[in-house]
Amino acid sequence: MRGKFITFEGIDGAGKSTHIDWVAERLRARADTGRVVTTREPGGTPLGEDLRQLLLHRPMHLETEALLMFAARREHIAEVIEPALARGDWVISDRFTDATFAYQGGGRGLPTARLEVLETWVQGGLQPDLTLLFDVPLETASARLAGARSPDKFEAESRAFFQRTRDEYLRRAAAAPERFRVIDATRAIEEIRVTLEEIIASL
Ligand code: ADP
Ligand code: TYD
Repeated sequence: MRGKFITFEGIDGAGKSTHIDWVAERLRARADTGRVVTTREPGGTPLGEDLRQLLLHRPMHLETEALLMFAARREHIAEVIEPALARGDWVISDRFTDATFAYQGGGRGLPTARLEVLETWVQGGLQPDLTLLFDVPLETASARLAGARSPDKFEAESRAFFQRTRDEYLRRAAAAPERFRVIDATRAIEEIRVTLEEIIASL
């Protein structure tokens, strides 16, 4: 039996990384999930992590940025995601293609049609079974990030950039309600976990 593919999404500072390991542990505690692999994008492979360093710190043309995101993703799918799902493992990824539509499409304004070409090329029919969108207003995200870590290239972007990024995430969630669950991530961590527990139980 093929494993399930779950992705975590949201603007920087929404709080998704805070919950990934906990969700993985809850799934591991179940008898029916087999192994649970956690990974991230951009990254997830040695080459992908090298590309991540370039993507997060080097200025580049926005199409170069989108192409490198999908190049890292191609490697990630071939080396990690697809073999794991085929073995029956479950895969949880901190970001996947919705992030490219939200950041490079929404945030930077790259036409969606270009990204759709790359999505089809790189993924074929592969899509997450479930995407958890951690949603917070910009003020909450920036307050959480302030002091937490020094900003990378994306985290240093403007308020307008993150507004467009959040809007695009919410638009995609509304367009694919069977795949997305939007989580009100303004709440306390314990309250969010109650929601996550319900979602996990329904998988
Ligand atoms: P993301 O991975 O979405 O960028 P993180 O999980 O790294 O965000 O969280 C950003 C910061 O906000 C961290 O310092 C984290 O401890 C804090 N944080 C995460 N979730 C909450 C929450 N529900 N309430 C308050 N602070 C939070
Ligand atoms: P992330 O790992 O969430 O950063 P952190 O560990 O600092 O929370 O993501 C790195 C950044 O890359 C984030 O700002 C979003 C951006 N990103 C894109 O712009 N497009 C993409 O396709 C992906 C996967 C990430």
